[in-house]
Amino acid sequence: MAENLIVATSKDKDEKYSVLIPQVEALVAGEKDVVANLSNVAAALKQTFGFFWVGFYLVKENELVLGPFQGPIACTRIGFGKGVCGAAWKEQKTILVPNVDEFPGHIACSSDSKSEIVLPAFKDGKVSLVLDIDSDRLNDFDDADAQHLERLMKVIERFI
Ligand code: SME
Repeated sequence: MAENLIVATSKDKDEKYSVLIPQVEALVAGEKDVVANLSNVAAALKQTFGFFWVGFYLVKENELVLGPFQGPIACTRIGFGKGVCGAAWKEQKTILVPNVDEFPGHIACSSDSKSEIVLPAFKDGKVSLVLDIDSDRLNDFDDADAQHLERLMKVIERFI
């Protein structure tokens, strides 16, 4: 297992993801425990991009329950279809929110959060968890983030 994460010094987002994702693959390859792996994925994303909040909500019965994350304390439970996370679960797709104030039903765990991206990961054809990333800047995520993070979700789907 890697002891140190290499973070691309370039400002280029594509390069940052290209350096990050193979390391995440290597990091999770030797470990089966889901919580251990999700914890390292959240930490690697935080270390690479310095996101305000990055973490996972896990589908447990009829709710999303807070999982491994990096950042300020957060809401512990989110209902199906509620907020951006619940919507990504319900719609089974990536949701990109350039301005959280314009997303009906957005759940403000922190008033510092300004934009957000949420992506689902699937197990046996059902959403098993979502990755939620929040920024304290407006319009901080774009299609490039969505594409790279969707690749990351495929890596996550191998161990959940
Ligand atoms: N904003 C999210 C809730 C989770 S926190 O931001 C960490 C939402 O609307 O689903």
